[in-house]
Amino acid sequence: MSNGRTRSDALVFFGASGDLAYKKIFPAFQALARRGKLDFPVIGFGRSGWKREQLIERARASVSENGGYDERAFAILAERLEYVDGDYNDPASFEKIHQVLVARHAHRPAHYLAIPPSVFPAVIKNLHVASCTQDARVIVEKPFGRDLESARALNQTLHEAFPEERIFRIDHYLGKEAVQNILYFRFANAFLEPIWNRHYVESVQITMAESFGVKGRGKFYEETGVVRDVIQNHLLQIISYVAMEAPSGMYAEAIRDEQAKVLRTVRPLEPEHLVCGQFRGYRDEPGVARDSRVPTYAALKLYVDSWRWHGVPFVVRAGKSLATTYSEVKVHLRRAPQVVFTEPTPPAPNYVRFRLSPEVAIAIGARAKRGGELMVGDPLELSVVGTPMQGQDGRMGDYERLLGDVMAGDATLFARQDAVEAAWSVVAPALEPPRVLHEYEPGSWGPAETERLGGQW
Ligand code: BG6
Repeated sequence: MSNGRTRSDALVFFGASGDLAYKKIFPAFQALARRGKLDFPVIGFGRSGWKREQLIERARASVSENGGYDERAFAILAERLEYVDGDYNDPASFEKIHQVLVARHAHRPAHYLAIPPSVFPAVIKNLHVASCTQDARVIVEKPFGRDLESARALNQTLHEAFPEERIFRIDHYLGKEAVQNILYFRFANAFLEPIWNRHYVESVQITMAESFGVKGRGKFYEETGVVRDVIQNHLLQIISYVAMEAPSGMYAEAIRDEQAKVLRTVRPLEPEHLVCGQFRGYRDEPGVARDSRVPTYAALKLYVDSWRWHGVPFVVRAGKSLATTYSEVKVHLRRAPQVVFTEPTPPAPNYVRFRLSPEVAIAIGARAKRGGELMVGDPLELSVVGTPMQGQDGRMGDYERLLGDVMAGDATLFARQDAVEAAWSVVAPALEPPRVLHEYEPGSWGPAETERLGGQW
């Protein structure tokens, strides 16, 4: 029998010849092997007409291009890999999976659906018919649905074969060390709690900027747009860590209860608090409609209607083809009263900054006196950057961490159904084609209109 914490003993992954497998999943397997944690068979399933050797070659090319080939670790991965060729709609293909599992004495597989959600119903039904779902876990990728209604339908499909505690919804931002550090830093220290509320915090600013465009994923992006791609999931999960109450412990439901509570108190976005943009040139990308109105940039002002956060704006912006690439959370505090020192220009308020990528940092923005007779100062940052927090030895890649957690049955870093649904409700008004779509220059900071939301980036 499996309970929440029993180890899965095989990983079956659908979409083995796909893009996600190439960019993220094979490198994560190799990293697990390097750490001695790839102690289970990995069964790739694809429709490419491949043999096992081709899967191994694909895995080798993947790790060489994404993170580096490690001869010893790769040998372990190659030894674990199996391949089943088939069709998602063909029950006989799933019988083949079942036979491989039996031959490998695996009774508690985890099934990773790295495939379009449109084929989920067929795959789940066929897994069920082939006796592959008993004591099994299922892993699915974001975005989880296209809106509240489709997310509920998807949940229903999954729940036909898997109870909620065996469903692992990946949001790879939760697998990032820097994102977990928001949670850790908040609750491992005493000094933040007294100021972490509407009395001291003026606003929270969250940025996810990318200097690149849609990188050949035009077709995917046309169906997604920036809100479904990164705001409904990555950025709202980050808000939940920034704004949540202290969990009662470190077990999965303690943390996920608090996340869901916060997301349920986020007021649904008001249309006048949304600015949408599209970078000039997006419509020339392959797979993109010439008259596309899909936003590649959005800025939103949200409010968390809780006792702690009432009235504090959370201003979020995310976009492609912007001036640079970084993700950051900046919590601005209210300005100190200007009654003691009369400085020429009003000083910037203090802030706490969590830099999530490309480098990792936690910084506190303050002021200190400039040398000399005058009582005037300069802004400075007290910061911890990079390695003390990342600790090269202990650092794990996001997918490595998350796949390892699925196998161990730890759901802490996965999105729960109620949180996903709450997040769809928050962004609902931003899912329609925007009434006003501002064009912006690639390499800029997006539409100037964003300023009216009160961002202080
Ligand atoms: C993905 C989005 O979920 O996250 C991409 O689909 C985005 O559009 C990516 O570029 C960013 O992830 P990371 O880990 O590179 O910050």
